[in-house]
Amino acid sequence: MQLFDDLEDFGSFDDVVSGNVRDPYTELARLRREEPVQRIEMSAMPGDETKPLFIAYRFEDVQQMLRDNRTFSSAIIIQAFGDVLGRHVMLGMDEPEHGRHRALVSKAFAQKALAKWEDTLVGAVGDELVDRFAARGSADLVKEFTFPFPTQIIAGLLGLPREDYPRFQRWSISLLSFTINPERGKAASVALEQYFTPILAARRAEPRDDLISGLAVAEIDGERLTDEEIFSFLRLLLPAGVETTYRALGNLLFGLFSHPDQLEAIRADRSLIPQAIEEAVRWEPPLLTITRIATEDTELGGVAIPAGASVMPMLGAANRQEDRFEDPDDFDIFRPSRSSVAWGYGTHVCLGMHLARLEMRVAIELLLDRLPNLRLDPDADDPHIRGQVFRSPTSLPVLFDVAEEADE
Ligand code: HEM
Repeated sequence: MQLFDDLEDFGSFDDVVSGNVRDPYTELARLRREEPVQRIEMSAMPGDETKPLFIAYRFEDVQQMLRDNRTFSSAIIIQAFGDVLGRHVMLGMDEPEHGRHRALVSKAFAQKALAKWEDTLVGAVGDELVDRFAARGSADLVKEFTFPFPTQIIAGLLGLPREDYPRFQRWSISLLSFTINPERGKAASVALEQYFTPILAARRAEPRDDLISGLAVAEIDGERLTDEEIFSFLRLLLPAGVETTYRALGNLLFGLFSHPDQLEAIRADRSLIPQAIEEAVRWEPPLLTITRIATEDTELGGVAIPAGASVMPMLGAANRQEDRFEDPDDFDIFRPSRSSVAWGYGTHVCLGMHLARLEMRVAIELLLDRLPNLRLDPDADDPHIRGQVFRSPTSLPVLFDVAEEADE
């Protein structure tokens, strides 16, 4: 059994979770044209009734179903992931429960609330990671930077002591790999709750300036989050806030490294970074698809969908629809700005998007500032973006000049 105890296992962890699919987009484009709402008969166990599964490929259909969250419910997420994330996880709630929960947690993730973390936490974590390899002239930016970066930021936001970061990182890897190793995922889920129980009690008694305190004291109309709701939310932050962000940052870096003219443009004008981030998540969203369940017999794009069927909006296909994005397969930070569905859409639209954008912007700024002449290692063994559900490069071997950094 693979344990993924530390980052030495990173390649195999990533292989098993993502699969080695280099180009899903040719097939996604064909399906978007020929079978925009695809019906797949799931082969159930012998004797079981077959259950159809639907996949929506077109931008308009994806938006329509994510807007209509009464017909296309998120409850399926609790059926699938409740064991490991907890039964009170907001990602799997429907209205009005979801809205109440979201209102209680959203303040901490607003752009304004996050600004104070830019230097003290996000920049500091990034600098510390770069310190470890800046004098070497080479690095694997996935293993040494993009992967540890968001976990440590979440740990910092939660106010965890630095000496606990490695433990937190291990639990994070275990939770992320739970689809292939459920026992280990569940063990990490229990360990996280045990770890957070005394911390939450302490923050309820004496709030500090951290996210757990914010969750503990948040109140709307006299209602507060229960302990179980807070634990579920804290568990969700790992897959939702780590997996997506490290992959998105890897995709952004790969897009820039493989388009040196665009990297040069950013080097010369840092104000281009935000549009580069949006283009990277459109071009290669870290998560190709999400999922919903039909609560009643309905129709999408002219296709009948029976109550109880799973319906998956294929974000990765919608984001490359030709009539919405010209030359959609190209990575082009200068394309006219049009929103994509990489962050989801509707009531469950990514709560952490401002944090993710902040992390990615600070990361690109500090990598460019601290690693002169940063580029992919030309002798590296074909780094590329891969995966069928999650997508990112497994490694980003880079070279850079060793700067004479001002040391006292
Ligand atoms: C590039 C990075 C990211 C991407 C592409 C991304 C993408 C998404 C998507 C597609 C959804 C919608 C899921 C659904 O409707 O079923 C979502 C929801 C969510 N994301 Fe993100 N995410 C990113 C980063 C983050 C970060 C950094 C955090 C927090 C630290 C975060 C926290 C959440 C939460 C809590 C939800 C659930 C919101 C709700 O149920 O109302 N995400 N994200």
